[in-house]
Amino acid sequence: SGPDTMSPTGQPTGADQADVAQGGAYLTTAQGARLYDTDHSLKAGPRGPVLLQDHHLREKVMHFDHERIPERVVHARGAGAHGVFQGYGTAASVTKAAFLAKDVETPVFVRFSTVVGSRGSADTVRDTRGFATKFYTSEGVFDLVGNNIPVFFIQDAIKFPDVVHAAKPHPDREIPQAQSAHDTFWDFVSLHTEATHHTIFFMGDRGIPRSFRMMEGFGVHTFRLVNAAGETTLVKFHWKPKLGVHSLVWDEAQLINGVDPDFHRRDLADAIEAGAYPQWELGIQTFPDTPEQTFEGIDLLDPTNIVPEEMAPVQPIGLLTLNRNPSNFFAETEQVAFHVGHLVPGIDITDDPLLAGRLFSYLDTQITRLGGPNFPQLPINRPHAPVNDMQRDGMHQTAVHRGVAPYRPNSLDGGCPFTAGADTGAFVEAPVRVPEGRKVREAPESFADHFSQPRRFWLSMSPVEREHIVGAYVFELGKCYEQAVRERTLQVLANIDPELCRQVADGLGLPAPEPTVPLADVAPSPALSQVGKVWPTE
Ligand code: HEM
Repeated sequence: SGPDTMSPTGQPTGADQADVAQGGAYLTTAQGARLYDTDHSLKAGPRGPVLLQDHHLREKVMHFDHERIPERVVHARGAGAHGVFQGYGTAASVTKAAFLAKDVETPVFVRFSTVVGSRGSADTVRDTRGFATKFYTSEGVFDLVGNNIPVFFIQDAIKFPDVVHAAKPHPDREIPQAQSAHDTFWDFVSLHTEATHHTIFFMGDRGIPRSFRMMEGFGVHTFRLVNAAGETTLVKFHWKPKLGVHSLVWDEAQLINGVDPDFHRRDLADAIEAGAYPQWELGIQTFPDTPEQTFEGIDLLDPTNIVPEEMAPVQPIGLLTLNRNPSNFFAETEQVAFHVGHLVPGIDITDDPLLAGRLFSYLDTQITRLGGPNFPQLPINRPHAPVNDMQRDGMHQTAVHRGVAPYRPNSLDGGCPFTAGADTGAFVEAPVRVPEGRKVREAPESFADHFSQPRRFWLSMSPVEREHIVGAYVFELGKCYEQAVRERTLQVLANIDPELCRQVADGLGLPAPEPTVPLADVAPSPALSQVGKVWPTE
């Protein structure tokens, strides 16, 4: 706050007070009354009973009693940083999004996370990592809520409660905190073979990244870009770390969890404080927006699929630099609210059924987590664009709205500036054709192949990466109590590759089953291997 918002005593006043709380020259009550003592309750004599009339005592303890808010139902543990995104202008032919135009600089906030562990869990567990970015663009907030693995466990959001129930700690003993290494998780992924691709990815080295600064990020779903002429293109978003992609090995990861459970958040904060600002290039793979929404036979609406980068190269469209640590973990990293529905003109969704459920879930959970519907007013969530939304009142309302007519049209507040049409800078949904059909609870036939993409992943790995994958399966399955779960998982592995299955079976001292599906004839994708991976490769 500037000097004009300070009172003569140095206390911030008015609207700025929320942003600069605790900045004053002396201690006060929450009502701003100056205190002379905060270390002793008011008593009837030094050894006498504490008096109920001590408002300061009651106010102080009451507030403390309510300091905790629910942790995120998933991705509870995270670390955040502020930064800037600079557009290259190279996406101009496919999207009109203003923040992607050449040299436009947009403030961002990024939160990295693990998925399964609670808020106080360790950093270097084997898990998927969240990579969520909030772009405060001139056209409103755009959130890219991705992971460090390009595919997901399930194809339909209606199964998200199931997969999370299976992955979270067992309901009886609440162990383990890590994603894997327990019967319910392996029970789920061996019974739901659509999870095979994600599972082999995080049994690989990407499940134990060396640093948040050295992870790729993926939007996972296919999105739809819209250009100034209204033409649409399907895309997948990729973050490519300038430091290259690096992982821990399992022994390191386990040791670090004991020695420094805050390893990843410390690494991020220390690097930024030292001026070693981490950077990622944002890139897109582009695909023609055909009615089939497939590319070279790959269903683009199936979030368990990748499109190999050799088939559709990633084209850089901008640069992300993280250059400032949060000053308050709670106000920024904890209260930030990402949502896949936060879109800006030029970026739209597709009919991926996993994405559809996410569009509901984030807003819904944040109403509980952040205490009502007004969390977009929290400083970390406020758009850097004017907001005029006619929303009023509600729990934790902090805005003082002007006018008397929060509806439109109206004749009392000068009407409401609103013009329909695509040329006004408004977000207009791409008018894509909706496929015709009957209402059904069914997956399309094209979602049925659960093994050829995991097979491509396995075939793309270098010998050392294969060794890590086998070791990870042996370790994790070795921790399961249920023999049937181990055996069913070996069957899944046989359907990926008999040699992978044999090596894991040997490690577990079990017989290797034969495949029950024909092995797909897929070419390896060298881009999937992390060995020597530095990007861009100039
Ligand atoms: C949180 C990614 C699927 C529900 C998150 C976060 C990330 C993420 C990165 C953490 C955001 C943060 O740092 O605050 C993904 C990806 C998915 C996926 C990449 C699949 C491609 C789903 C699905 C659902 C879901 C299918 C529900 C149907 C949630 C919820 C949270 C969350 C409830 C907590 C949000 C909050 O409390 O603010 N997800 N997720 N996610 N996700 Fe997802």
